[in-house]
Amino acid sequence: MIARRLPAAGLDLLAERFDVVSGELSPARDELLTRVEGAAAIVADPTVPVDGELLDAAGPALRVVANFAVGFDNVDFDATEARGVVVTNTPDVLTNATAELAVTLMLAAARRVGEAERLVRDRKWTGWDPSALLGRELAGSTVGIVGLGRIGLRVAELLRGFEPALLYTSPSPRPEAEVRLGLERVPLEELVERSDFVTLHAPSTPATHHLVDRALLERFKRGAVLVNAARGSLVDAKALATALRDGRLSAAGLDVFEQEPAVDPELLALENVVLLPHVGSATAAARDGMARLVAENVIAVLSGKPPLSPVQ
Ligand code: DGY
Repeated sequence: MIARRLPAAGLDLLAERFDVVSGELSPARDELLTRVEGAAAIVADPTVPVDGELLDAAGPALRVVANFAVGFDNVDFDATEARGVVVTNTPDVLTNATAELAVTLMLAAARRVGEAERLVRDRKWTGWDPSALLGRELAGSTVGIVGLGRIGLRVAELLRGFEPALLYTSPSPRPEAEVRLGLERVPLEELVERSDFVTLHAPSTPATHHLVDRALLERFKRGAVLVNAARGSLVDAKALATALRDGRLSAAGLDVFEQEPAVDPELLALENVVLLPHVGSATAAARDGMARLVAENVIAVLSGKPPLSPVQ
């Protein structure tokens, strides 16, 4: 049972082997609860809460929930564990796409790309101006990477050409990356105090909820740029809006929000924040790779083999 839609790269693999039922892009919860009845596999994504109710609606045939995403904060693991259901995700195949998007946001926020483009589109551009729309450069800056998993590490690799100094936080050290990329591991507070750019690449967990709150924002270097292409729950949006208004931060680039698709009106009102609609993995290559991996995980579990990318 595909909760929403799956690209053909994965759908075709599943349809060759199983009866597949797909739904709407925005299925009503009731419709989902009916459609899932008797399913052996559920294909979900970050917008689909996978909880006890959905699992019970599927019934005892259910063996796997394959999430069409690397993140899995939509899944209630107590509920899947209690029912012996395997959960899988889609790591690696979207790493580069998401890292490139984080770098895009760094540059767009620092060079005021959204603001500049609105000026042109609104026909308010009056000509080249030596002192208009001045931004900041990555070269010679310090970039702090919060979370050096696959995506954080790829961001560090992509940034090499821009020649910033690189700091990172991580629950455990990454000595190989430190040597290869010149990264320095520091505590979070030190990272925000020293960084001109802070980019978030940590998962959404109770421990990372509002990791960037008012208290932490007050420790940021004045005029820093914050980028979030991880999960909206990592940032207190109201506190961020205040920091962007009072100049503590010069700009922010956000691809994710706490209550998507809602965006805090205080952020919408600000010029110095670039707002994107959760498109980190939105390349054809990444989405096809994700779809294939979803299908391969389902096929493996339903054939009695170990899943390729289990998260439980
Ligand atoms: C993920 O994979 O977790 C993204 O948020 C969607 O690509």
